Amino acid sequence: MESLEELYTIQDSFSDDFLWGVAFSAKQTEGSFDRGITVADLQDYNPKDATKVKGDLSETEILNRLENPSNYYFPKEKGIDFYHRYKEDLELIAKLGVKCLRFSISWARIFPNDDEIPSQVGLDFYDSILQILNDKGITPIITLYHDDMPVRLALEYNGFLSKYINESFIRYAQLILTRYKGKVNHWIIFNQINLTRVGLSSLGIVKDKVTDLEAAKWQAVHNKMVTAAKIVSLGREISKDFRFGSMLADFIVNPETCEPKDIVFATEKNQMTMFLYADVQFFGEYPGYALRYFKENNICIQSDKNELKVLKENTMDFLAISYYNSNVVSAKENSMKIGDSKINPYLEANPWGWTINPRGLYDSFIRYWDRYHKPLMIAENGFGAIETKENDMIDDQYRIQYLNDHLYAIKKAIRQGVNVFAYCLWSPFDIVSSGTSEMKKRYGLIFVDQDDFGKGSGNRFPKKSYYWYQNVIQTNGDSLESFEDDFK
Ligand code: BG6
Repeated sequence: MESLEELYTIQDSFSDDFLWGVAFSAKQTEGSFDRGITVADLQDYNPKDATKVKGDLSETEILNRLENPSNYYFPKEKGIDFYHRYKEDLELIAKLGVKCLRFSISWARIFPNDDEIPSQVGLDFYDSILQILNDKGITPIITLYHDDMPVRLALEYNGFLSKYINESFIRYAQLILTRYKGKVNHWIIFNQINLTRVGLSSLGIVKDKVTDLEAAKWQAVHNKMVTAAKIVSLGREISKDFRFGSMLADFIVNPETCEPKDIVFATEKNQMTMFLYADVQFFGEYPGYALRYFKENNICIQSDKNELKVLKENTMDFLAISYYNSNVVSAKENSMKIGDSKINPYLEANPWGWTINPRGLYDSFIRYWDRYHKPLMIAENGFGAIETKENDMIDDQYRIQYLNDHLYAIKKAIRQGVNVFAYCLWSPFDIVSSGTSEMKKRYGLIFVDQDDFGKGSGNRFPKKSYYWYQNVIQTNGDSLESFEDDFK
């Protein structure tokens, strides 16, 4: 007889082949040169506008922006000019010692016009990035859609609400998957499939071009899940090495109090805003609670037996999570809408009200693992802060603390039996904020000399956290420190 420890493997820390990485999206970095305009390009920056999450534009607002661009400032049109500076940027990323890079391909760069012919210039750009990554031994993890619907597809078809647009997306995906067979194995088809609060960017729906926005959003989500399953099916024929990920924005909420009503409300909210999507993408069918919700709310999703078969037969291989903060809910004060929650009074927050809760990450990972038993990765995790470059080195100790604590939480989750294979820090350099289009919400390990209005040299300067992360990677996480005595 042997002991259980001898019969099983107990993982104590990050595996030797753990993918340490960084992540960013096309829409926040590349700029719009040589590609079609996307809805992200039309999210203007205006310091007088205090809206927390921007970008859910009406048809009139979109047309106004297209017809009178000089009345606005559109930061994502420039991004951080990664399109022209990508060689220098990839060099800095490689010097960090990362093992992987998650980035997105812009659909509007591959198909900038109405025709069916892909842009050679666009393909050359991504060919070149992948060649550099290959030369440097960095594993690419590609997102095929990171909230950057080509604007004409939103205006004419309401994006993923249209089955025709879903078919176009599948053709684009097939082209990319075929072209990069042998070069890319990890695919995240859709960024944060559950984060539909800005329907224009996640789904391509122009909010006033539908009669029932909530029903339209659920239909578009369904279409996206069927599309993802069809892409998985195609992908499995293209290469047996492909691995496909479902990606969720972590919006797991906890009850504000131990009052049973709050507890049950949090559970049901987590079902509808988080688990529903992964339940469909991993179990291949809609759960009972979702069908009940749709029925009780008169949401009638159009589908057929063929689609349900495709969903059942093409489930995902891994779960990718973006994790930044965590909140609580009260049955009395909050609704079922994703993001409608309250600040947890036990936590500190950044200037945007994003709380800091590494224990929440640990807790979430245990829940995902217990439910799905699929390998997990962090697709995004990072800390946005206001920073200016006055001295040679930005001493971003607060970011180091945040990253240390969240990475330590992952290490502890691994020790608790969770299978985690990658961590992609958001982001290697300061980039334009997705939600507010400002530059001053800086996440980077590398400072980019550019302000909210795109002014500055654009030059890149590693911060203290850059060297700190380099060391974490070199030591395979051994340099991480436990942050509280009871969390070891
Ligand atoms: C994630 C998005 O939801 O949040 C990223 O996938 C985004 O694109 C990140 O940048 C942080 O949000 P923000 O609004 O601070 O840029």
